[in-house]
Amino acid sequence: MILREFRTPISSKPVLIGPDSKEDNIIFAIESSCDETAAAIVKNGREVLSNVVASQIKTHIEFGGVVPEVAAREHLEAINLVIAQAFEQANIKPQDITAFAATVGPGLVGSLLVGMNAGKALALAHDKPFIGVNHLNAHVCANYLDTDLTPPFAALLISGGHTQIIEVKSFLEQRIIGETIDDAVGEAYDKVARLLGLPYPGGVNLDKLAQNGNPFAYKLPEAKLQNEFDFSFSGLKTAALQLIQKLQKENDNLPKADIAASFQENVSSVLLKKTKKAADNINAKTIVLAGGVAANSEIRKKMFNLENQGYKIYAPALKYCTDNASMIASSAYFLSGTTGSLDVEVFSRS
Ligand code: KG4
Ligand code: ZN
Repeated sequence: MILREFRTPISSKPVLIGPDSKEDNIIFAIESSCDETAAAIVKNGREVLSNVVASQIKTHIEFGGVVPEVAAREHLEAINLVIAQAFEQANIKPQDITAFAATVGPGLVGSLLVGMNAGKALALAHDKPFIGVNHLNAHVCANYLDTDLTPPFAALLISGGHTQIIEVKSFLEQRIIGETIDDAVGEAYDKVARLLGLPYPGGVNLDKLAQNGNPFAYKLPEAKLQNEFDFSFSGLKTAALQLIQKLQKENDNLPKADIAASFQENVSSVLLKKTKKAADNINAKTIVLAGGVAANSEIRKKMFNLENQGYKIYAPALKYCTDNASMIASSAYFLSGTTGSLDVEVFSRS
């Protein structure tokens, strides 16, 4: 039974949330853990009624990355407008909402506080339950949007802060099979992009550049680890730095596209190999991609090729790979990684 009873904060009325609820659950969610201010309304965890995202890319381009204090201030400026737009797009009134949800961590504390407090204020003002959501669980739940996917499955979570292979046993139960011991995949992409002189946000720009390069131009190293399902990307990053320095001495024009393509080939092959092995290890025939890096063209291509070998592959639509609030609403509905009360606080690390 996937159902939990929440209480409204003022009148203390019980509200049942989850797939086994007899009533439609319309969840309003807010996401503000990093550099996107987002709000969305999702019906029964899968049907997106509105999805609004205000990106801070323009501001952070100047700094070459996210400055936490600047991010928090931008969230403050955007939040009310983003919330209003989410209601307007869905043509739904606050009284029709079943519960309000917001990301409570992991993320930048100042940024999280803006979204969480807005969510709590809405819950209090309209006397609806508040649900605090774990951002990582939510990335996996992005795969429930517009699909009929149900656990069990193996998930590859690749974002700016995390890299994990997860056994998702049910909506509520998961186990980490392997994870990075140093940099996250997104972090490695962003760092190598910076070495190549690409603008922020690095990952997507490196992906674009790699389309014009030879993926087999340079062989970069793969880390050998004790747990075969763990990852390490710091050696790869150093190897990329050394290669760039060597080529800079030898050439007037750095072959940036070939370096980008070779880096992307290395990362996507390692992710594919380990995820397939981990899925086989737990007898999972369904593999799910999640997180901002799941938007990567080569990683998607390699993973979807597994469908020729009898696997079923899911990856969120590109707009639901990177940070958004629809995945937060889905996580709140499926009760995956949630805390339900106004007392919940933000946290920075998982
Ligand atoms: O999930 P996300 O939006 O934020 C976190 O929760 O971290 O992921 C952001 C990460 C960044 O490192 C960004 O460079 C990377 O996802 N990213 C990509 C692509 N699109 C976003 N990396 C590689 N290829 C892409 N197409
Ligand atoms: Zn994220």
